[in-house]
Amino acid sequence: MNFKALNAAVVICGALVCSGAGAKELTIGFSQIGSESGWRAAETTVSKAEAKKRNINFKIADAQQKQENQIRAIRSFIAQGVDAIFLAPVVATGWNAVLREAKEAKIPVVLLDRDIDPSGKDLYLTAVTSDSVHEGKVAGEWLVKAVGSKSCNVVELQGTVGASVAANRKKGFEQGIAGHANLKIVRSQTGDFTRAKGKEVMESFIKADGGGKSICAVYAHNDDMMVGAIQAMKEAGLKPGSDVLTVSIDAVPDIFKAMAAGEANATVELTPDMAGPAFDAIIAYKAKGTTPPKWIQTASKLYTGADNPQAVYESKKDLGY
Ligand code: AHR
Repeated sequence: MNFKALNAAVVICGALVCSGAGAKELTIGFSQIGSESGWRAAETTVSKAEAKKRNINFKIADAQQKQENQIRAIRSFIAQGVDAIFLAPVVATGWNAVLREAKEAKIPVVLLDRDIDPSGKDLYLTAVTSDSVHEGKVAGEWLVKAVGSKSCNVVELQGTVGASVAANRKKGFEQGIAGHANLKIVRSQTGDFTRAKGKEVMESFIKADGGGKSICAVYAHNDDMMVGAIQAMKEAGLKPGSDVLTVSIDAVPDIFKAMAAGEANATVELTPDMAGPAFDAIIAYKAKGTTPPKWIQTASKLYTGADNPQAVYESKKDLGY
């Protein structure tokens, strides 16, 4: 890459987002997890659009949920000599060897939407993620308020086993309900962030409960699993959104559709635009040597039925997820 030209272009574009000529020559590889959820598909769509805005040559490798595919993709990006690698790590552990290879090849790595084990902290440049403990906490605190003083059996649908966001959202929710002995998590199992598994696991919870009548609330680590759980509850003759409270994470259009129909209660938004801030960090790093903060935190926002879910659905539905 012609760094001199890149530098000059960055100076010319000044305080504006340095897209166009300044970023033209960058090639970035993205090891994406797969398309397990609507949110994930949206992240891929938004990443492509953000790359296009900045004239970045963007290569996406879909790992179909498998860490070994992600490792293979990273090695291939290293062999191609890309300027940077984005990684959405399916699980938190097992990355150090391949990230060390990237570091030795002087290719900066940016984590998107999930973290890795702290032992790998020196092996990536920055992580663009939300505070996923906070997301779980917000969900738990919302439920505490919604339930009031009545006793409430909660069932939990966890994300992918070993994923940082699954562990954090569990921990945060437990913090959110801590000190409220009337709320109890009675069952908790992974639904792997997918609609199909969310439905399947919810069916098993309902069966184990002898019909689901003692389930007061469902907490799901993402909206897709909740959409599956809502289906399972309806098929079992339960009324999600009224008899059974729901709270989940992502804020994808379909959960707003369910909220507008009175079948879901709350969601915590996770922006699908993780790549935009990551591109900007890499452009500044490559052009001016600006080291980004170790954590670029994205915002989280709670939505409930009071937020005009139909209007939110209309505003989000064309975003491609
Ligand atoms: O890492 C972010 C999570 O991964 C999203 O909440 C979930 O939908 C996705 O699959």
